[in-house]
Amino acid sequence: MKVRKAIVPAAGWGTRFLPVTKVIPKELLPVLNKPAIHYGIEELIASGIEHIIIVITRGKHLLEDYFSRSFELEHALREKSLYEALSYLSPVCDPDCICYVHQAEQLGLGHAILTAKHLIGEEPFVVLLPDDIVFSEVPLTKQLLDIYQEYHANVLAIEEVPEHRISDYGVIEPLQMTERLYRVLDLIEKPRSEYAPSRLGIVGRYVLLPEIFSALEETLPGKGGEIQLTDALKLLLPNQPILGYRFEGRRHDVGTPLGLLKASLSLALESVDTAEQLHQFIDLSMRQRQLRKGPINH
Ligand code: G1P
Repeated sequence: MKVRKAIVPAAGWGTRFLPVTKVIPKELLPVLNKPAIHYGIEELIASGIEHIIIVITRGKHLLEDYFSRSFELEHALREKSLYEALSYLSPVCDPDCICYVHQAEQLGLGHAILTAKHLIGEEPFVVLLPDDIVFSEVPLTKQLLDIYQEYHANVLAIEEVPEHRISDYGVIEPLQMTERLYRVLDLIEKPRSEYAPSRLGIVGRYVLLPEIFSALEETLPGKGGEIQLTDALKLLLPNQPILGYRFEGRRHDVGTPLGLLKASLSLALESVDTAEQLHQFIDLSMRQRQLRKGPINH
């Protein structure tokens, strides 16, 4: 069955970005020249997804504004022949392909996904967490969908993460099947490193079978008192296979100010327009830092 739909949870408060997130959704903070969530939506479209459900909450209406067309601005730019500026306004997809559901209470990622249940129905679907931006030759969602088409199982994107960061992730107990593919034997949300069954952390992309919704309905609040998707997946395990795919690509966690900055720098260092100047700036900063620290004694 073709996977047509995706849920993009974007209802969090973005507390790590306060005070700016008092007024601007964190998903709209820019990574170089585009909002973080823009990259995720592009990835979904490039992977063949046709319907995207963004889960928002009070105060997140700017996301709706961002993905709707601004005919006035387009008209004004056309009148002034500002075609380059106009090109930045081309819609990421047909406006009808994105719709919004409101999560009334912030009860966790699992709860956010449950909020969109009525728009998914009995189909497999994708979940994309916009905090994870991945640059890859084959879009990450497409990589997972290819695995799904072969095995018809739930598929999670996984990545080896450093031991000191393991407690930021859902972690799987893996059984390796091929170079990149693992059968998930167990999973645990944000374990302390001594309890982590591996160093394979779940990254924000999932292909899920619709049975996840009944599992979510049975899931009790877990880590942080929230309804966790990882806990619902654990409930599914006795009845449905779950696979973990160690994807190809470079991931940026833009859910923290430093991660957002690193993602922007990484893109700027690759862009012909900015790379040279940025390298000069970094070289200069390094020299100044060295001067402050004094000469190196060998
Ligand atoms: C969520 C999931 C976690 C996953 C992570 C990936 O956590 O709960 O299992 O590893 O996304 O980014 P969050 O980062 O939203 O706290």
